[in-house]
Amino acid sequence: MKLQTSFLGILCLALFMSLLSCKGDEGLAGPIGPAGPIGPQGETGVNPAENCLQCHSNSQLITAKMFQWEHSGHATGGHYDRNATSCAICHTSQGFLERIATGAATTAEAIKDPLPQNCYTCHKIHQQYSQEDWALTQSEPVTLWEGGQTVDLGKANLCISCHQSRVVSPALPDPATGGTVNITSSRYGPHHGPQGVMLPGLNGYEVAGPEPYVNSAHTALLANNTKNACIVCHMGTAQATSSGGHTFRVISEEGNINTAACVECHPVAADLNTLVDAKQAEIEALLAQLKTKLVDRGLLNATSDLAIVPQDFEGHEAGALYNYKFIQEDNSRGVHNFKYAKALLLNSIAALQ
Ligand code: HEC
Ligand code: HEC
Ligand code: HEC
Ligand code: HEC
Ligand code: HEC
Ligand code: HEC
Repeated sequence: MKLQTSFLGILCLALFMSLLSCKGDEGLAGPIGPAGPIGPQGETGVNPAENCLQCHSNSQLITAKMFQWEHSGHATGGHYDRNATSCAICHTSQGFLERIATGAATTAEAIKDPLPQNCYTCHKIHQQYSQEDWALTQSEPVTLWEGGQTVDLGKANLCISCHQSRVVSPALPDPATGGTVNITSSRYGPHHGPQGVMLPGLNGYEVAGPEPYVNSAHTALLANNTKNACIVCHMGTAQATSSGGHTFRVISEEGNINTAACVECHPVAADLNTLVDAKQAEIEALLAQLKTKLVDRGLLNATSDLAIVPQDFEGHEAGALYNYKFIQEDNSRGVHNFKYAKALLLNSIAALQ
């Protein structure tokens, strides 16, 4: 009996021990469960890579525009170092985009790592990742800083956001009443890019004189939102990288007019060349005459072409200085608005007799 009991005891113990220590190998994994519900649709619903390929393909579209742009004054002018708060709004890409967003006339701070006007300045690149991104960053009508008129030149509203006069200080008097202007800045005038004001024929100092203030045919035909003004002449069919398209040039560095931009209205290229030469020569001669008058009166430094300041200018003297700078800085030497430029020059010369 004793033996049987201990045998059973050992058997139980062995069984117990084997249960504890001899766990068998793990079985195979069960079958994969059923798929879960489909997740919510992504934001665009399109494979983002396909979106990228709309532009980043081997069509060479970007490369072509890039190549033209590299030869433009925007890329080569070099003045994007003007990154202070009041200059960066036109001279740097980042400053312009900040201004368009805030509506302020200056940037909050000087722009770090400034860039010149480039694809991102003018197009809404990488906002939607679709063709929509070629849309222009600024297409609203522009209320001019100097003069306060609202101008709508269609796609060229982008251009004239920057190519407009700066506010002149102190203000010019009303040409009808005159008055003295104490000028303290040698750079008195509309600054370097008043083309967007010249084309519509605005804000010159319209002193009374022999010549009526009328505009060239270009004003009525081109300074509107259907013809897109600047775009027609400055972005005509690209002539490789010398003019047209994204070079923004009308006349190549070699002096050839991009006649493709003008052919719609000036069908004979040779005639157009003669016309441009003749009209530009006429404006240059009048500018030289007005300069002599300003220099003779001790108002303008003949060498630096800057105003002699500080001094009190009579109203028509300040106006004549302003007109001189306006037409000179417009840089088209009369092509933009020949009749208006000519009238401002002739009447200013007459006012200084
Ligand atoms: C509307 C056309 C367009 C679409 C769509 C587009 N891009 Fe671009 N992308 C551009 C342009 C224009 C540039 C500037 C070209 C340059 O500076 O070389 C650019 C530049 C870039 C650059 C260089 C950035 C830099 O500053 O050096 C990268 C990277 C890029 N894109 C990636 C993408 C990706 C990824 C997608 C899709 C998710 C995409 N792009 C969709 C037009 C587009
Ligand atoms: C309203 C926009 C605007 C603002 C603000 C502005 N500029 Fe300009 N600036 C232009 C444009 C447009 C041109 C190019 C005009 C052209 O080539 O016909 C230019 C050209 C220049 C040039 C080159 C002139 C030349 O003869 O080559 C200098 C220098 C310059 N700006 C300095 C400044 C400084 C300094 C400030 C700030 C105090 C400033 N600009 C603010 C629009 C602006
Ligand atoms: C100073 C402003 C400006 C800059 C800088 C600029 N563009 Fe443009 N771009 C325009 C304007 C304005 C148009 C419209 C021209 C027209 O309608 O004839 C345009 C048109 C285009 C088009 C045709 C769009 C369409 O709807 O088919 C493409 C593509 C383009 N630009 C690419 C570029 C690229 C790439 C760059 C940079 C290398 C660039 N642009 C830089 C102003 C600019
Ligand atoms: C963000 C402001 C800005 C916009 C937008 C802009 N420009 Fe300019 N543009 C300038 C400045 C500033 C310069 C002078 C660049 C420099 O010298 O560094 C310039 C230079 C130029 C030049 C060369 C001038 C020269 O003396 O060689 C031409 C032509 C021109 N712009 C035409 C246009 C046209 C056309 C548009 C519209 C499609 C346009 N710009 C849009 C600011 C702008
Ligand atoms: C009728 C065609 C025409 C229109 C419209 C036009 N331009 Fe011009 N622009 C010219 C010609 C031609 C020149 C002279 C180029 C030269 O002599 O090198 C010129 C010169 C310029 C210059 C100086 C370029 C340089 O190389 O010195 C700038 C900047 C300019 N235009 C900007 C504009 C802007 C901004 C607009 C729109 C408000 C505009 N233009 C509208 C034809 C035009
Ligand atoms: C939408 C039509 C149109 C376009 C585009 C156009 N012009 Fe004109 N242009 C005219 C008309 C109309 C006249 C007035 C002709 C006359 O009085 O005999 C004129 C006159 C001129 C004059 C003489 C001065 C003046 O204003 O009376 C010049 C210079 C000139 N154009 C140059 C150009 C150049 C350069 C281009 C192209 C870059 C161009 N035009 C594009 C319609 C146009």
